[in-house]
Amino acid sequence: MAVQPVVYGNSHRPPRGDYERANADYTCTQNWAQYSEQDHDTFRRLYQQQLNRLPGLACDEFLAALPSLGLDRGIPQFDDINERLQRATGWEIVAVPGLIPERPFFELLAQRRFPVTDWIRTPDEFDYIVEPDVFHDLFGHVPMLFNPVFANYVQRYGEGGLKAHALGAGELLARLYWYTIEFGLIRQRDGIRAYGAGLLSSPAELAHSVLAQSARRISLDLVRCMRTRYTIDAFQPTYFVIDSLNQLIDMTAPDFTQLYERVKAAGDLSADAIHSSDDEITLGR
Ligand code: PHE
Ligand code: FE
Repeated sequence: MAVQPVVYGNSHRPPRGDYERANADYTCTQNWAQYSEQDHDTFRRLYQQQLNRLPGLACDEFLAALPSLGLDRGIPQFDDINERLQRATGWEIVAVPGLIPERPFFELLAQRRFPVTDWIRTPDEFDYIVEPDVFHDLFGHVPMLFNPVFANYVQRYGEGGLKAHALGAGELLARLYWYTIEFGLIRQRDGIRAYGAGLLSSPAELAHSVLAQSARRISLDLVRCMRTRYTIDAFQPTYFVIDSLNQLIDMTAPDFTQLYERVKAAGDLSADAIHSSDDEITLGR
């Protein structure tokens, strides 16, 4: 059954993926045999480049899980990853043709199924790609799903997403996804580290987010976060920092129904807004 393609943000560019081959829930089969030698080579080169950039920037949980994935050999068969991932946290990855709409996305997460785009960028998009591809999805997202606390957070996020969608607050909750699961920073023993997939899979923004004096880092506050719009085609001007992965669980445990009303009443903030209540984190602390 053919499903509607999805575009990112307000883009009018047609999406890359072939949505004709997707099932009603937007999943499809990973045609592993169809990857070319060039595809595997692109993946291996991206992997090596990013691996070299992780020390001092990626969080402990990410670094602990990454080596067991075997991503150094090229684009893996998703089934191979799933054997290990299911044993670790009960999650599995499922292939999708690209970005999928809010509701089916939340549905998959709530079932502990993480959608992974199955195609890879071309060699001339090596350093920058607008849509997430298999490298971003696998390298950025999957290692953190091996951590039981984070794995639970993402599932609960999916359940919360379905509820938010029904309440007309999907967009507000999407900001929490963006500023935690994609661009989240965490305070660890030796300093600020990245746990967000958009950072971990980005050659330039990873170091920028952790080290740059020009980046703003503020303690994660739910209302502040859900009020904040984000940019999709430039570095984030503001990152939200947590103290532990457990904080994600604790912070999102209460009923959000009233919270959405408060967020709506308070109004949007721009991605680079500075707010008087911001607990700004200075480096070296
Ligand atoms: N607890 C939130 C609610 O009641 C849902 C939620 C869970 C949101 C986890 C984000 C993450 O709506
Ligand atoms: Fe992502």
